[in-house]
Order: sequence, then C-alpha cells, then structure tokens
Amino acid sequence: MSVVVEIERLTKQYRTRGGSSKEAGKESRPALADVSLAIREGEIFALLGPNGAGKTTLIGCVTGLCVPTSGTARVMGRDVQRDYSFTRRVVGVVPQEINFDPFFTVEECLRFQAGYFGVKLAKARLEELLGALRLEDKRHERTRTLSGGMKRRLLIGKALAHEPRVLFLDEPTAGVDVELRRDLWRYVRILRDRGTTIVLTTHYLEEAEELADRVALLHKGRLLLVEEKEALLKSFGQRTLRLILAQPIHELPDALKLRGARLSDQGRVLEVTQPAGEELGPVLGTMLACGLAVRDVETCRTGLEDIYVQLLHQDHPGARIGT
Ligand SMILES: Nc1ncnc2c1ncn2[C@@H]1O[C@H](COP(=O)(O)OP(=O)(O)OP(=O)(O)O)[C@@H](O)[C@H]1O
Ligand SMILES: [Mg+2]
Repeated sequence: MSVVVEIERLTKQYRTRGGSSKEAGKESRPALADVSLAIREGEIFALLGPNGAGKTTLIGCVTGLCVPTSGTARVMGRDVQRDYSFTRRVVGVVPQEINFDPFFTVEECLRFQAGYFGVKLAKARLEELLGALRLEDKRHERTRTLSGGMKRRLLIGKALAHEPRVLFLDEPTAGVDVELRRDLWRYVRILRDRGTTIVLTTHYLEEAEELADRVALLHKGRLLLVEEKEALLKSFGQRTLRLILAQPIHELPDALKLRGARLSDQGRVLEVTQPAGEELGPVLGTMLACGLAVRDVETCRTGLEDIYVQLLHQDHPGARIGT
C-alpha cells in the first residue's frame, strides 16, 4: 500500500505572548516535537491524545493552516509548503472550529467551497452530500440558522465538496447526536471504500475503535504509539468471561482452578480472564467435564479506552511505533 502523507521530524513551536515585556516572545514546550509518521493510501487513521496533545497542530502543518518550525510534510509525494496549491487541492479538512459565513445558504456554502478549488459541484454530488449529511431540508436555509450538530455536518460537506484524496476530520462528531454519528461513520467507510484516505481525531474512543485501521497516540507533542488497531487490542486486550451457573457451587474443581477460573457472586458465577482472541473451548469443555451446567454467558473486553488510559498513565511510556 502506498504512502499518501509523509511527516518527517515535524516540530512546531508557537510563540507565546506573556503579560510582561520579559515574558513576551518566550518559548514554551513545543506543540509538536520531532514527529515522524507515514499514512497509507486508503486507510482510516485515528490520531488520539488528550487536550493540547498537538493533534490539531499536526493537521494544520499538513494541510497548510500552520507553518512548522522544522521538519517536512508531504502529501502524495509533494511538499506541502513548496507545492502549496497542489497539496491544498488534494486534501479536505473538517476543522475543529466552525468557520463558515453565516449569511450563505447551505447549498451556496457547498457550491462556493467547490468553486474555491476550481471545481463545479455536480448536481448528483450535491444531492449525495446533502443526503449523506441529512441536510436536504436545510439546503436553502442560511447557515447561521442551523443547530450546532447541523453546522458540524455542513463542515464535513464543505471539506468533501472538491472530492479530496485525503480527508482530515478534526473531531468531526463532537456535538452530533448518536444516530447521526453512526450515519457519519457509515459515510466515512463509504468514502474509504471509494479510495479516500481518512485521518481522524476524536475524544470518543469508541469512534476510533469502530472506524480506525491504525491508531496513533500523541502526548505533549510527542508521538507515543502508532499501531494497527487490531494488534493493539490484541496485545493489550483481555477478555473476562462470566459464566452464570445453573446451580451455585461452593468449591471450584481443581481442573478449573488450573485454567485460572475463580468463583464470584457466592458461587453463582465462574469468572475467567484470558487474552482477547483466545479460544473459549477448553474452559467450557472443562466445565462440562466437571458436570457444571451454564445458564448464561457474559463477556467483557478491554477496549481502546482502557488501553488509552493505561498508556497515558504509564510512568515512562516508551514509544511503540509499529508498522
Ligand atoms: N495558535 C496558537 N498559538 C499558541 N499556542 C497554540 C496555538 N494553537 C495551539 N497552541 C498550543 O499548542 C498545543 C497543542 O494544541 P493543539 O490545538 O494542537 O492540541 P489538540 O491535541 O488539538 O487538543 P484538543 O484535543 O483540545 O483539540 C497546546 O499547548 C496549545 O495551547
Ligand atoms: Mg484539537
């Protein structure tokens, strides 16, 4: 799979303005520190990290909204600063902040956006965008009359109007209701299936778990981890099985103790914790052999959210920059 966005040793140091002349222009910790990253064509890449980690700054440096202090960013092989107009044309950005003119209508907003890139918005494309973002009813309304969630949907439409090859979504579903969030996830997958590469930031870990092929974790401007999501869930993830017994027992048979099982809920539940993905057969087989009948089964899996918290709270988080 070819690389579509290449970031090499990117550092961004904003200049802070202090109150006193002594503090003015003083440099603080860089917003991005020596970040290198390669994003592959056609993947959904989730950029995670707490507030202030540097996610928006990273997107800004790649999409031309801010100038890095050092390092380079390339999109489809072209440098984002030297080949400014090419790289701007092939990327779309859904910014974290709402940034459109409140006096245009929804439809005008989409048409003008395509026009900025010299693209005429075809009728079919306009209808597709309005439909996918559920804004058909609002097409002739001024954007200032939209609700917060609708404005966010329109931002996504704007970013897609010129059919970018790489789409950057900076917290696209903040403030969007649950049903629509799921619709947007579906639409993001459709875009990916058509070949659009998607870079997503989100504080909803469920969103990254649902959508992402790979996950990166930024913390205080540094890249702590880049890994395939499934591999990450597998290597950190554990699953706890709760087997609800038909009849409570007082003593656990040795064969089950050997499989790491324990009793809970006054002998009504047998619990086993094992790496996610490991077969359940041996535990269930041993239970049957011991003459224990199971009334119900519950499973509880370590999700991305648990892993995220675990990684951020490690004392010395070493970088895990995988494939
Ligand atoms: N224009 C700016 N001028 C000065 N400092 C800035 C500017 N923009 C961001 N910063 C600082 O850079 C750091 C990274 O900010 P950034 O917006 O990239 O974080 P983020 O990961 O997107 O956070 P969030 O999850 O809150 O959106 C923060 O310390 C922030 O205060
Ligand atoms: Mg941000």
